[in-house]
Amino acid sequence: MEDPEEVDLHTPNAARMYDYYLGGKDNFASDRDAAEKALEFAPQIRLAARQNRAFMGRAVRYLAKAGVRQFLDVGTGLPTQSNVHEVAQDAAPDSRVVYVDNDPVVLAHGRAILGGAENVHIVHADLRSPKEILDSHEVRQRLDFDAPIAILLVAIVHFLQDDDDPESIVARFREALPAGGHLVLSHVCGEALPRSVPGVTEVYKHSTTPIVARSPDRIAGFFGDLELAEPGLVNVAQWRPDSEETRRIAEKYRRPYFLAGVGRKN
Ligand SMILES: C[S@@+](CC[C@H](N)C(=O)[O-])C[C@H]1O[C@@H](n2cnc3c(N)ncnc32)[C@H](O)[C@@H]1O
Repeated sequence: MEDPEEVDLHTPNAARMYDYYLGGKDNFASDRDAAEKALEFAPQIRLAARQNRAFMGRAVRYLAKAGVRQFLDVGTGLPTQSNVHEVAQDAAPDSRVVYVDNDPVVLAHGRAILGGAENVHIVHADLRSPKEILDSHEVRQRLDFDAPIAILLVAIVHFLQDDDDPESIVARFREALPAGGHLVLSHVCGEALPRSVPGVTEVYKHSTTPIVARSPDRIAGFFGDLELAEPGLVNVAQWRPDSEETRRIAEKYRRPYFLAGVGRKN
């Protein structure tokens, strides 16, 4: 742990709650209690978290096949299975990945586990300061924004409050993309779960990372004028499902609950 002073063990936090939903062990009692409360309001969260993670893997594989060799992943999460660099380097060993997160536990675990990997780097920064991320020496030294690149904002933009002006923040990342660059984004929608959303939102209000579910139109707006790869903006499981189980889930839950897409700058 880099600076244990920075870690608040008593206030739940999105990275560690997500780790708990995914079956990980990098979480504290406060995170588990909050996650269990959220699951009472919406038992689907566990499945949705797994499907989101699987979406990210499919999107990275799709991009690696399309020739992308550089990935800027903002909102890394705690290292689990199928991390972005593992998926990307499995498809294309020369892939470079820069992870960005603002959570001290994520950073400490990330540095310990990912630190030894080739062409993988982890940076401490905040999504709310896009310029700092995009202009930082650590990022620019490792990623070439004139070559094919993908920016990942997967399950993170819903932790921006409306006061943060998420539209402008995401626009900064889109503007940084070269022609042929990609934005991968997923976002909690909750339109399909009107009764669950207020309860889950209330649980996250007491965490360091309050959550804001947004409408399909607002989520679509985050892609600006990027061209969405098929099948467009859909629930995480509906984005190019690659197994019978995912296809079954995609069929079963069709109303928007967790939307995802991959946009390309032309
Ligand atoms: C739900 S996890 C998603 C992890 C991964 N992207 C995935 O989808 O599997 C959200 C991550 O975003 C990070 N995060 C939340 N708000 C952030 C911010 N303002 N700046 C940087 N990271 C943030 C959290 O620490 C956490 O690691």
